[in-house]
Amino acid sequence: MSETKRLAGEKAIEYVEDGMIVGVGTGSTVAYFIDALAGIKDKIKGAVSSSEQSTERLRSHGIEVLDLNATGPLSLYVDGADECDPHKRLIKGGGAALTREKIIAEASETFVCIIDPSKQVDVLGRFPLPVEVIPMARSLVARKILALSGGQPVWREGVVTDNGNLVLDIHNLSITDPVALESTLNQIPGVVSVGLFARRGADVVIVGGEPPTLL
Ligand code: A5P
Repeated sequence: MSETKRLAGEKAIEYVEDGMIVGVGTGSTVAYFIDALAGIKDKIKGAVSSSEQSTERLRSHGIEVLDLNATGPLSLYVDGADECDPHKRLIKGGGAALTREKIIAEASETFVCIIDPSKQVDVLGRFPLPVEVIPMARSLVARKILALSGGQPVWREGVVTDNGNLVLDIHNLSITDPVALESTLNQIPGVVSVGLFARRGADVVIVGGEPPTLL
């Protein structure tokens, strides 16, 4: 239980409008958003979910989960983050849901990110950067990451993503140019997606508190 996460999640409800299909992220802060969304579920058409975990929670509240291919572009995406810099660029993927999160963020007009104050940093990289990889490319991608970024990739053993892939976490990075690093890592064959949300960062960041603050 985190009071600041709850306050951020509940504040994001203000961005939900009548008839919307809401993009929904993954994680403990988003869980508060989903619970609050249940209170206005008759107002929305449904949700597009970024993970099996969020799908389960949405359905447990009787909120219909829709396929992004059927909905087309979304007006609103609400998701948490593992780190957020002053330019609203993010590290995500601590819950291994980064690829679907990135897809929904890209499909959405407005990305509202909900965080507790501990997620705010001046420079991204203290949180190990997650990268989703095709299983057979794990070692290759790890070697390339080391050569290209200088960071230390560590296999998150035992974790398989909802897409059947693996996760490498890159330690010891100080990400001074997140857009460039995101592009560089995206080019490595075998990389499915990178947990840097810099090219498409958040549009609004809600930092949970009493009262919540906006970036
Ligand atoms: C999931 O893969 C992540 O991107 C989450 O958005 C992030 O880990 C959320 O963190 P909290 O659980 O602290 O909300």
